[in-house]
Amino acid sequence: MFRATTFENVTVIATESLSKRFPRVTALDRLSLDIGPGVTGLVGANGAGKSTLIKILLGLSPATEGTAAVLGLDVATSGGAIREQVGYMPEHDALPPDVSATEFVVHMARMSGLPPTAARERTADTLRHVGLYEERYRPIGGYSTGMKQRVKLAQALVHDPKLVLLDEPTNGLDPVGRDEMLGLIRRVFTDFGISVLVTSHLLGELERTCDHVVVIDGGKLLRSSSTSDFTQTTATLAVEVTDSDTHPDGTRAVREALTAAGAKLHARVEDGLPGAGHILLVEATGEETYDLVRDTVADLGIGLVRMEQRRHHIAEVFRTADADAEAAAAGEAAAEAAREPAAVQPVQHAVQHAVQQKGGGRDAG
Ligand SMILES: Nc1ncnc2c1ncn2[C@@H]1O[C@H](COP(=O)(O)OP(=O)(O)OP(=O)(O)O)[C@@H](O)[C@H]1O
Ligand SMILES: [Mg+2]
Repeated sequence: MFRATTFENVTVIATESLSKRFPRVTALDRLSLDIGPGVTGLVGANGAGKSTLIKILLGLSPATEGTAAVLGLDVATSGGAIREQVGYMPEHDALPPDVSATEFVVHMARMSGLPPTAARERTADTLRHVGLYEERYRPIGGYSTGMKQRVKLAQALVHDPKLVLLDEPTNGLDPVGRDEMLGLIRRVFTDFGISVLVTSHLLGELERTCDHVVVIDGGKLLRSSSTSDFTQTTATLAVEVTDSDTHPDGTRAVREALTAAGAKLHARVEDGLPGAGHILLVEATGEETYDLVRDTVADLGIGLVRMEQRRHHIAEVFRTADADAEAAAAGEAAAEAAREPAAVQPVQHAVQHAVQQKGGGRDAG
C-alpha cells in the first residue's frame, strides 16, 4: 500500500464533535475525525450521513454543532477558500445534456478561476486521464452512466485541487466500470498527489482503493482505521471441499476437524446465496493455517476444491467484531439473542451488498 511519507502527520480533514440536525433527523451525531493525505473511504449505508458530511466540508451547509476544518481552513468561515482548493464530485447527476464534455469541463475550469488557455489545456489533460478523450466533443446527453461519472470526476479535478471529495463515484456502474473508476481514483493520488475522500456503501469495494477507511452509521463514527490494519488482523481463507462416501457432508466434517484443531472459523456470511453454504471462512494466522487446512482435508480423505484468500475481509471483520463485542457485553445467555442488534443492521446491509458484489463476479480471479 502506498504511503505518503512526505506528508506524514498532515491533517487534511478534521472534525470535532460535528453534528447536523434536521427537524426530523440527526444526520451527523458528534462525529470526530482526523483524516490525513492519501485515499480515504467513507463507508456507510443509505442515510448514514456521508453526503451531509461532504456538504459541510465544502462549506455549503452549516453544522448544527461542532467544528470542521479542511486543509487547515475552518468550514464555517472559509468556504470560498476551501472550494478553491477542493474538487467535488456530487452524488447526483447535474450535467447539462446539450454541451460536450470539453465545453462543460472548460466552463468549470473557468469558473474555478483558470485563464482560458490553461482551462483548455487542463481540460484536455483531465479528460484524457478519465479516459474520455475520444468522446469529448459529443453532447453529454448521449453519454452512458459510466461516461457521465467520468465527466463528473474530470470537472472535480480540472482546477488541480489539493483534495477531491467524491460522492459515490461508482454509483450506477457495472462491475467493469466500477473497477475502472476505482483504478482512476487510486491514480488521482498516486499520479497527481491529490488526496481523495470517496464515499460508498460497499465496504468491500473500497478496500483495494483506500489507504484508510472510515465507517459511519446513523451519523456516528463506527470505526476509522488504515486499510492495512484491517487486513493484517483479518486475513481470511475461503475453503471449499467435496463430499465423500465416508463424509457425505464434507464441509461439516472439515469444519468440525478444523475447530477441534483450534482454527477459528467465521460465521458464514454467504448463507442464503446460491451454493454458498459450502464455503468455510477460516481465519488465517499465517502459513501454518494453509498447511492445517490442507492436512485436515487430506486426513479426512476428501477433495479440496479451492482455498483462497478472501478479498472482502473488511466486511467480515465488522460482522465478527460486532458479534464478539455484543457477546462480551451481553454475556453468554444474551449473546445469541443479540446477534444482530439494530445498530449494526446498516453494516450488515453493507456486508450483504459486498457479498452480492462478489456473487456478481466482480472479484473473480
Ligand atoms: N436537506 C435535508 N433535510 C432533511 N433531512 C435531510 C436533508 N439532507 C439529508 N437529510 C437526512 O439526513 C440523513 C443523512 O442523509 P445523507 O444524504 O447525508 O446520507 P448518505 O449517507 O449520503 O446516504 P446515501 O447513501 O443514500 O446517499 C438522512 O436521514 C436524510 O434523510
Ligand atoms: Mg449520499
